[in-house]
Amino acid sequence: MAGPLKLSALPLDPRRVWKLNNVLFSVVFSNLSLIPIGVSLLRYRYWTMRGSPDFFPDIHYNPKRPINKLDVFLPQEPTSVTASKLYRRNTESEGDVRLLKPVVVFIYGGAWSSGSKWMYTLMGARLRSMGYVVIVPDYSIYPDGKIKDMEQDVKMAIQWAHKNCENFGGDPNRLYIMGHSAGAHLCALTVLNDSIQRIPVSLFGSSPAAISASPILDSLLSEPLLRDDKDVLPRLRGMILCSGVYEIGEHFKHETMRGVEEISAMARVMGNSEATFRMHSPTNVLQELLQVSTRIDRNYPTESQTRHQHLLRRLKSLLPVETLVVHGDVDRTVPVKSSSEFFMELKTLQMGSGVRLRIMQGMAHEEPVVALMPCSARNAPFKQPLMDEISQFIVNEKLLPN
Ligand SMILES: *[C@@H]1O[C@H](CO)[C@@H](O)[C@H](O)[C@H]1NC(C)=O
Repeated sequence: MAGPLKLSALPLDPRRVWKLNNVLFSVVFSNLSLIPIGVSLLRYRYWTMRGSPDFFPDIHYNPKRPINKLDVFLPQEPTSVTASKLYRRNTESEGDVRLLKPVVVFIYGGAWSSGSKWMYTLMGARLRSMGYVVIVPDYSIYPDGKIKDMEQDVKMAIQWAHKNCENFGGDPNRLYIMGHSAGAHLCALTVLNDSIQRIPVSLFGSSPAAISASPILDSLLSEPLLRDDKDVLPRLRGMILCSGVYEIGEHFKHETMRGVEEISAMARVMGNSEATFRMHSPTNVLQELLQVSTRIDRNYPTESQTRHQHLLRRLKSLLPVETLVVHGDVDRTVPVKSSSEFFMELKTLQMGSGVRLRIMQGMAHEEPVVALMPCSARNAPFKQPLMDEISQFIVNEKLLPN
């Protein structure tokens, strides 16, 4: 598995060649069907938003990797007052905070090796039309970066959003992240990693042996970085995860079945071993967390119980208040099982009331983003259901528990 790509070194297995052609063909075919979206994208990016006071492109957010920038879209206002004027006035007078809008940071997918914020301008257009401040960052994709770099970029983009969104009329207490495919994986992993590193080791039980028996927790908890409260993520109101990969090992098997594991960057991005696959799999991280924390010390059963409850409470207070998991049941790129299993783990952790799984019948992998991109020449049956799902999720005005 390791090492650089050498397709020429592979035996010319006719089955593999057929599979590969099949994949290439479907990519080209789906691209053809995306031409109207391409036209719409060019028109929006270079015509509608060009010089618009509601659009702030190419802002640096990570001094260590200045090549990655983000775009900010102000919410579209139906009124005659332009949004930017309204918001500037709003933040200057620091008076009427009711005008602050929810903020959505959108992390695109692209198999950890492709994609750009430019391509998702229409996603920004859709979300801003729904009344949100939208932030779309570029992050380090393979081969410029591997999973650690990606996680760090996502984290810094979220921190940037929290620190700066008020200048754009966004409410830092209503910060949402939304990800699609590999982007959903990055959102879930970044948030989980941050949360677990902030749980005091003592809550995992007195014996360090239990933790070191779990390679995932051992590695997560041995990171000294997050013990002080400086580098942490802000509390998120919600996380919207669409068509995501949550178990790298399972997905690698799926890629192998499709014959694309050699051209996919995933294994290289994640570190090319079963252990690093597990370490970067939100589903496995949750499984191990449960296993270790529910281990009952036979000499102190009540204490073990209490400790377990404390751990869950602590975790709950760190994870996003609510999570929405969306997946199409005919997704062939990432089977729906990925989402349903991740959801089950979240529920087992008693995150039940704050987690919602929405399986959309007949929806394919790209639809959650493609259907949302405004394009009059394309019929998108999932547009309305997706918009309803998102706006119901974000409108929900539950107060942050302290
Ligand atoms: C967790 O985050 C730290 C940085 O805060 C990083 O060094 C580490 O690689 C991450 N671990 C995983 C498993 O993602």
